[in-house]
Amino acid sequence: MALDKPYLDIPGTTIFDADQSRKGYWLNQFCMSLMKAENRTRFKADEDAYLAEWPMTDEQRAAVRARDLNWMMRTGGNIYFLSKLGACDGLSFQQMAGSMTGMTEEQYRAMMVAGGRTPEGNRVIGEGGDAQGPMSQSPAWQEWQDAQAQLALADAVEHAQEAQPQGQARITAAVFTSHVPAIGAAVDMGKTQEPYWKPMFQGYEFSKQWVKDNRPDVIFLVYNDHATNFDLGVIPTFAIGTAAEFEPADEGYGKRPVPTVHGDPDLAAHIAQSVIQQDFDLTLVNELKVDHGLTVPLSLMFGQPEQWPCKVIPFHVNVVQYPVPSGKRCFELGQAIRRAIESYDRPLKVQIWGTGGMSHQLQGPRAGLINAEWDNKFLDRLIADPAELSTMPHIDYVREAGSEGIELVMWLIARGAMADVAGGKAPKVAHRFFHVPASNTAVGHLILENQ
Ligand code: DHB
Ligand code: FE
Repeated sequence: MALDKPYLDIPGTTIFDADQSRKGYWLNQFCMSLMKAENRTRFKADEDAYLAEWPMTDEQRAAVRARDLNWMMRTGGNIYFLSKLGACDGLSFQQMAGSMTGMTEEQYRAMMVAGGRTPEGNRVIGEGGDAQGPMSQSPAWQEWQDAQAQLALADAVEHAQEAQPQGQARITAAVFTSHVPAIGAAVDMGKTQEPYWKPMFQGYEFSKQWVKDNRPDVIFLVYNDHATNFDLGVIPTFAIGTAAEFEPADEGYGKRPVPTVHGDPDLAAHIAQSVIQQDFDLTLVNELKVDHGLTVPLSLMFGQPEQWPCKVIPFHVNVVQYPVPSGKRCFELGQAIRRAIESYDRPLKVQIWGTGGMSHQLQGPRAGLINAEWDNKFLDRLIADPAELSTMPHIDYVREAGSEGIELVMWLIARGAMADVAGGKAPKVAHRFFHVPASNTAVGHLILENQ
């Protein structure tokens, strides 16, 4: 399903959901910029010039100039962001809220003093309550609407002809792979045939052909941000990238020469809604630069194309600062993600990729730890008994596979999303590969197909 919006029948109320957020992105960012005194000064000195600096729509600029909060909300504004504009004009929250009701400031104040607006008759559109009247509207908005009416009609007629493809999204396969940054550097610098790298890249030759033969529409790519977007200021446990585009990050070596990653904001918003409603608290990330955790797996599977051949939804898991989520939590989250994807009513082929690992330790006197036996047993268990594997405590990952081996919990998200976990058939093992070393890491790679 597209976004489920049970709140549309509440009168006089706009819920700030993913669609509104996308629509109002730059309007809201502009409003936030007014938290800086120097920006307020520049805005007040020349509104048009300041507004021109923000990639808003003309309508949003007109709504700001008219100071019409209902109009700004209609174009994606959210009251907490818009309040920065109101504050800049010296308005209180009561003045701002009142300005949207069609009452005078005094009338609104008096209503609040008398106990506030009653919910009676104001719960559902069509009741007779006092929130049902026409909303207050500036003359500027009225004029704008008249001018736009013809265009909107033509647009609606045009889009009515478009047939949407029918069907449900499906998870077709899971891909598991390490994401060592040196692998990306080897690709970028043309070193894949050197003796050190050749045997490792050979293990992905099958995979490159396989992914050509089994091209997904979207990859749901589970990885960890390595102190790239999320510094120590804010560390989300689980975060989903909802943007239309994600630029490769400059991790200190310069930006990798790889294409921009294209997201699927619509599917990402659907997954976020479904998964959060299944009680997993995701962080929504509307702006994200993707690091080696995401771009190296793409390079391993697709080589060096001009454009990545499909859309990618980045999904970040905190494995940097403890506490990190348990294997069990990750496995259950994968199941929730499968339910989310398979309830999306577009016939998309979706692959879920789990990245990171296998054994590696990047720090301290124990750096360089490799446990090939443990890693291979992990692969066996991931294939055959992931539910049992998911109960393994963190301390085992760290003790046995090194401090950064903890990245392997992310593989359980991808594994949890496979059909057999929900009672379907066991997956087909299309490919399995293991190699030591790539930089400090044991490279593990697995392709599991849903049957
Ligand atoms: C290495 C491996 C990683 O997974 C990573 O995120 C950074 C470095 C390494 O082996 O060098
Ligand atoms: Fe890593």
